[in-house]
Amino acid sequence: MSSQKMTEPTTIFGHTLDARQSRSKRGREGRRSYSARKAKGPYAGITRIESYTGFRNDEQSLSANTSIPPTLEEQQAKAEFYLDRFSQFTDYRHRGQNPYLKWLKTNPQLKAAAMNKFFNIWHPVSRHQPQMLLQIAAACPDWKDRYFIMKNYLEEDGMVKQGDDPHYVLLERLIIKLGGKREPDQEAEELVSKFHDSLLQMTAAEAAGILAAIEHPALDISDYFQQITRLCGRSDLTRTDPYLYIHVEVEPKHIIWSHGNALDWMEDEEKQRKEGYTRTDVVNAYTCSMKFWNDFWQIAFRKLGYRQ
Ligand SMILES: [Fe+2]
Ligand SMILES: [Fe+2]
Repeated sequence: MSSQKMTEPTTIFGHTLDARQSRSKRGREGRRSYSARKAKGPYAGITRIESYTGFRNDEQSLSANTSIPPTLEEQQAKAEFYLDRFSQFTDYRHRGQNPYLKWLKTNPQLKAAAMNKFFNIWHPVSRHQPQMLLQIAAACPDWKDRYFIMKNYLEEDGMVKQGDDPHYVLLERLIIKLGGKREPDQEAEELVSKFHDSLLQMTAAEAAGILAAIEHPALDISDYFQQITRLCGRSDLTRTDPYLYIHVEVEPKHIIWSHGNALDWMEDEEKQRKEGYTRTDVVNAYTCSMKFWNDFWQIAFRKLGYRQ
C-alpha cells in the first residue's frame, strides 16, 4: 500500500476513521503486529491490504433503485416515494393515512404504564429481528443482497461501533428508565414467533418481498415511539435515549434499500429467468408479510386503548 493510500480516510458504516485511527483499530484487533512483521518482506503491500478487514463503500453494491441519497431529507423523500408505490399491494396504511398515528395525534390520555406495555409488546419484534435478518440474508443467492442485510443485522445486534449494544438490550434499558419492567407481551411473542418460523422456507424472490414488508412500517414505528413518549410527558427521552434516536437516522435507508431491492427483483426479467421466479412471487411475499404487521399493530394498539 502506498503512503498516499495510507493517509486516505477509511469509511466504516458512514463513520470516517483517519489513517491513524484505522491503524489503531487494526492494532486492537491484533492485526497490526502481523502486518508490521510482514511489512519487512517482499509482499509487504499486499499483506497489509489483506490484513485489514473493512467494508466496501455502499455505492459499490447499489443499483439505481437501491442507491441512498446523501442527505437525511432526501432519504426520507425517496423512502416515502417507495412507501406510496408499495401501498397498492397492501391494506396497511402508512404515514398520513396511518390510523394509529392519527389517533396518537388526538392526544389520547396515556399513562406511563401504557407506554411500558406498548414497548413490551414491541419487545418480541426487536428480540427476533436479528435472527430474522440472518435468515433472510441466508436465502439470498447474491452477495450484494447479503451484504446490505448483514449491515442491517450488525446494526441491530449492536456490532457497528464500540459501546453499541443489541437494540433489544437498548429497549430493555428504556423500559427500566421509564419505571417499567421487562415483561415481553405473550400474545405479541406468539405472533412474532409464528412469523419468524414462516421464514424457514422462503425462496430468494420471496426474501426480497419479505424484507421490504419488514421495513415498510419503519418510519411509522419511529413516530409511534416519539408520539407515545410525548404523550407520557417524556419528550426529553426522544433526544437522550439511544433506542429512541438511533432509528430515526437509519430507517429511511432500510426502507430505500429493501423496497429498491424488491423492485430490482420485480423488474429484472433476466434475473427472473435465471432464478426461476415471477414478479408475482415477490409481490405476494410482500403482501402476505404485511398481514403480519396488520395483525401485530391491531393487537398493540388495542392494548394501548385504541378503538376503531
Ligand atoms: Fe433496531
Ligand atoms: Fe429497519
